[in-house]
Amino acid sequence: MIKKLLYDDYAENMIDKIAILDFGSQYTHIIARRLRELGVYSVVFPYNVSPDEISDSKGLILSGGPFSVYQDDAPLPDREIFNLNMPIIGICYGLQLIGKLFGGSIARSEAREYGRMDFEPLDDPLFVGINSPTTVWMSHGDRLTICPPSFKVIGRTSNSPFAAVRFNNIYGLQFHPEVSHTVEGKRMLENFLYSICKVKGDWKASSFVEIARDEIISTCGNHRAVLAYSGGVDSTVCSVLVKGVLKDKFTPIFVDTGLMRKGEVREIKGIGEELKLDVMVIDAEKRFLNSLKGVIDPEQKRMIIGREFIRVFEEEASELDAEYLIQGTLYPDRIESVSDVGPSHLIKTHHNVGALPKDMNLGLVEPLKAFFKDEVREIANALRIPERIYKRHPFPGPGLAVRILGEVTKERLEILREADYIYMEMLKELGLYDNIWQAFAVFIPVKTVGVIGDVRTYGNLIGLRAVESEDGMTADWYYFKKEDLEQIASSIMNKVEGVNRVVYDVSSKPPSTIEWE
Ligand code: XMP
Repeated sequence: MIKKLLYDDYAENMIDKIAILDFGSQYTHIIARRLRELGVYSVVFPYNVSPDEISDSKGLILSGGPFSVYQDDAPLPDREIFNLNMPIIGICYGLQLIGKLFGGSIARSEAREYGRMDFEPLDDPLFVGINSPTTVWMSHGDRLTICPPSFKVIGRTSNSPFAAVRFNNIYGLQFHPEVSHTVEGKRMLENFLYSICKVKGDWKASSFVEIARDEIISTCGNHRAVLAYSGGVDSTVCSVLVKGVLKDKFTPIFVDTGLMRKGEVREIKGIGEELKLDVMVIDAEKRFLNSLKGVIDPEQKRMIIGREFIRVFEEEASELDAEYLIQGTLYPDRIESVSDVGPSHLIKTHHNVGALPKDMNLGLVEPLKAFFKDEVREIANALRIPERIYKRHPFPGPGLAVRILGEVTKERLEILREADYIYMEMLKELGLYDNIWQAFAVFIPVKTVGVIGDVRTYGNLIGLRAVESEDGMTADWYYFKKEDLEQIASSIMNKVEGVNRVVYDVSSKPPSTIEWE
């Protein structure tokens, strides 16, 4: 099955690609994602990549970035990239760079332009089919004040007379066409790709299989590898991919942390068997619960769990003579955990990214690190992984530890497991499970007063969360029908010993996050 996708579905050098130079914008990978949505493969390179490395691309995009072109340490590309004779778009900082390098002037705007603006496009192939005015998203401190000689203006806003400029096939845009707030941005990128760069548009989820395969071969070579297997869509996709490449040099390891949901260990073993993955299961409950004893701070919990995971993998890898650890890390895990991807701030340390110990002695391979959850589901579909498996709601590596606020104890785990199980069963029964991106119960460590059969109770509080989302980066709370929510809540209160109150979380992300810790 995988062989077919790897070899039949893909011909050498079939894919047209676009190079993206990263100047540190938080949106760089959103550009890549938009291009994939438009059927085009792209590779993100550091801003100072050598022109030779990108010369086989069909076009080039210079990302935005947090810098001013006049800063001493402003990142500058190799000038030769402009002689590669391929279409180029500079976005925001990218435009300012083009402006400076081609002899224009850049100045600090009096007011930082941030938010939605009306943009008036002029006649240009980039703007075919675009309304005038159209809403675009600006986020910049500097702007072009004198247009470089030989460039012409192809669009403006009330504040930026040079909001879009062009010289031959070199374009500069002051706004961000890649973000969804630029209402017709995707159409502009489509014009750039298909009318200007003339790409074939032959990217599809299955193309990724070949690219990932190359990466796995070039990194792991002939060495053995273990994989952090959780039964979720990311690690399942990784396992199926890697198994097809490394064959018996590969062992997926599922660590039972004791922080799993009810029945989950059995279910995960079942998925592994169904996909013939030969998953090794390690019972590490005592180890994890002991190391979490008395810990209440969410970041500390995450760091401990990340560390323990790696220690288990190191021990097992040494038994198996493996040198590499493969993880199903996605792009959002990285952007919220660390700052190696642009100038982003730490939101929470995802157990498999920021919480990796510095002295880890395994090489790390992350074939999905540029992708978003919905794209990984497409890849799962291309790999013919059953829908029932890849449509499971995401479950975080730290498991129930980040859904029990405060200290994790066996008693709290039992209560939460039961409540969460009933919640999930009810969602399936009501036909709502697949409409919701992620749902779960949370143990809130306060007691409240209730009454059952004229008797006062002093019991536990359970929070319910359900969100709609595309990729987990932003999310809206799910609007239940009153009777459905009522049925779920009363089922939990009737069936879970010690719970006498249920609340529903109506917070979106942002300002909240999806998980409570
Ligand atoms: P937040 O809470 O950051 O969650 O809005 C976004 C998505 O990421 C999941 N999540 C994690 N997944 N390790 C993971 O594998 C982690 O440490 C982690 N923290 C959050 C979360 O469940 C949601 O789907």
